[in-house]
Amino acid sequence: MHEVDILDDGRAIRLTHEGGARLRFHAIWLRDNAWDAGTRAPGNGQRLITIADIPSQIRISAAKAEGNALSLTFAPEGKTIAYDVAWLQAHSYDQERPRESGWTGPEFELWDAGLAHIPSASFNAISSDRGQLKNWLFGVRRFGFGKLTDGPVESGALLKVAELFGYIRETNYGKWFEVRTEVNPSNLAYTGLGLQAHTDNPYRDPVPTLQILYCLENSAKGGENMVVDGFKAASRLRAENPKGFDLLTKYCARFEYAGSEGICLRARRPMIELAPDGELTGIRFNNRSAAAFTDVPYDEMEAYYAAYRRLGEIIEDPAMEVSFKLSPGESFIVDNTRVLHARKGYSGAGSRWLQGCYADKDGLLSTLAAMETHRQEAAE
Ligand code: FE2
Repeated sequence: MHEVDILDDGRAIRLTHEGGARLRFHAIWLRDNAWDAGTRAPGNGQRLITIADIPSQIRISAAKAEGNALSLTFAPEGKTIAYDVAWLQAHSYDQERPRESGWTGPEFELWDAGLAHIPSASFNAISSDRGQLKNWLFGVRRFGFGKLTDGPVESGALLKVAELFGYIRETNYGKWFEVRTEVNPSNLAYTGLGLQAHTDNPYRDPVPTLQILYCLENSAKGGENMVVDGFKAASRLRAENPKGFDLLTKYCARFEYAGSEGICLRARRPMIELAPDGELTGIRFNNRSAAAFTDVPYDEMEAYYAAYRRLGEIIEDPAMEVSFKLSPGESFIVDNTRVLHARKGYSGAGSRWLQGCYADKDGLLSTLAAMETHRQEAAE
């Protein structure tokens, strides 16, 4: 049983649940979030009204709670709408939010070299088993990366990885790009040099949100892949140097790539990106494509560089890295807004041939969320 009280002359209500929990909701919010057929399309759930359709002086003139249903009458519309109390509880906003800058949600688990298991699956298994695909996608969302084994050893196979959950993003590098030694390379990624851990393409706006790297040959000495959790690195920086963390979130860095004829990509974004409420939402870190920083005030530039240096040291700390060597037919995917990737140098003996492509994280998260919602409904 629930009790409902009208507050502030009808501008809000208070729901008191069994056990004493109390939640307040405003009349304007309730009217906007009604689920009656006149407010939301029954088929697709899309809202049929605009904010202008709701009277600015809207009030609740009558309220009645019965079991799991709540009936509210709005004035001046004179419209009575039924609400599901469980839905209201799940979407409550009347709560304390004692969150510090750089918080991350419970769907993420931050990790370092102590990560017990690399989120890994067999390409064949997740291609034919939706349950195993869901588990793998869940791991990619949780840890920001995942590995696949047993895939086909054929050029372009990486597109089949993207097809498991969504769509690739074509760029100036093509639908996919080759990562192997080249004479006169147009990008340092195509040489045998080691590469410092980085996120890809920070000069792009929007940045590619997923990267897939797929191994076709790997008999060269070295060339292991490493990943570092950028959210963990940022949280370490915040713990030891809150002022430095603040500087990297507060001022934009600049990134640029103009290494090929006809290309001049530029972006102006912070290295550590926060949502307005302090949620950590993205990392951009790439020494090769960092441009001149011109958005940091003179008085703060030295401190900004000190914070940038320290973030780099944390990222380079072996205690942060998880490394693995890919065999032909194996691949990995990274959330390029969170997890940095690196490559150890490799020698000219033998061969190393990877193919890479970008894909969109919203498609992956959508596929996963739809699977999770479907499972929930099936269980109800
Ligand atoms: Fe890269």
